[in-house]
Amino acid sequence: MVESRGAERFQLVEEALDDDELKRFYKMLWTSEAKHGNIYVDMALHYFPEQEVYERLHWFNEREGEILSRLEIRPALH
Ligand SMILES: [Fe+2]
Repeated sequence: MVESRGAERFQLVEEALDDDELKRFYKMLWTSEAKHGNIYVDMALHYFPEQEVYERLHWFNEREGEILSRLEIRPALH
């Protein structure tokens, strides 16, 4: 989940930039982060039943949403 959030935020940075070189750099970062998120889920699926993995991921997503809804909006990666 942390990797996926990093991907989302790096993608936002990339989309906000005008400099082509910086855009390529941030695109490389966010696509890497997205792949990392998938790798962790794939590893969990290797060791645990699919339903358990996705229920756990859903639980963390819900908790994250609750926490984030109480925080001020600020420029930050994590
Ligand atoms: Fe990462």
